[in-house]
Amino acid sequence: MILRPERAQDAAAIGALTEAAFSGQPYSDRTEHLIVDRLRRARVLSLSLVAEDDGALVGHIAFSPVALSGGEKDWYGLGPVSVIPGRQGEGIGGALIRRGLEDLRGLGAAGCIVVGNPALYRKFGFVSQQALLLSDVPAEYFLVQAFTGPVPAGAAEFHPGFYRDV
Ligand SMILES: CC(C)(COP(=O)(O)OP(=O)(O)OC[C@H]1O[C@@H](n2cnc3c(N)ncnc32)[C@H](O)[C@@H]1OP(=O)(O)O)[C@@H](O)C(=O)NCCC(=O)NCCS
Repeated sequence: MILRPERAQDAAAIGALTEAAFSGQPYSDRTEHLIVDRLRRARVLSLSLVAEDDGALVGHIAFSPVALSGGEKDWYGLGPVSVIPGRQGEGIGGALIRRGLEDLRGLGAAGCIVVGNPALYRKFGFVSQQALLLSDVPAEYFLVQAFTGPVPAGAAEFHPGFYRDV
């Protein structure tokens, strides 16, 4: 299995695997694959990595810029991250998250935010905290990882492409 940046011809397969990964998840609204397309169209997919096994895409992770109310620069949001249903639990998602965070640091990122299962993301250095908040998301499910310095206080916002066409 290799991890590599997405290529133009991967877009449809990334959409399909993202849709498949989230289908059947109780917390999914079945629109996660559209997020990736909107971020790509808005040219804010700062990092988009795929896991390829034997020529087929089995996993994907996206990162995009986020806005912090204090104006701090170089913060990113993780997500969506997806592994096809038949291959979950084999370490592919973890490998994508680790490589993604490493590459993000290489881009000069100051930190990263994520919404999701705290038990999953704590394994990769994210922490639940009270300083930085995300509207409408319980603090427990909003996790942060500062690469340099402390976690900024204030409000964070994912790129508008997460929620609508921009
Ligand atoms: C979440 C997802 C990307 C994880 O990828 P994966 O390949 O299944 O995960 P891995 O096998 O790499 O597991 C990495 C670690 O996280 C843990 N983990 C995986 N999924 C988890 C979950 N849903 N909750 C808690 N821990 C989880 C594993 O136990 C493992 O821990 P370990 O290294 O201590 O054993 C994948 O299961 C998936 O696509 N799920 C459906 C879509 C989804 O929920 N995406 C994330 C939304 S926040």
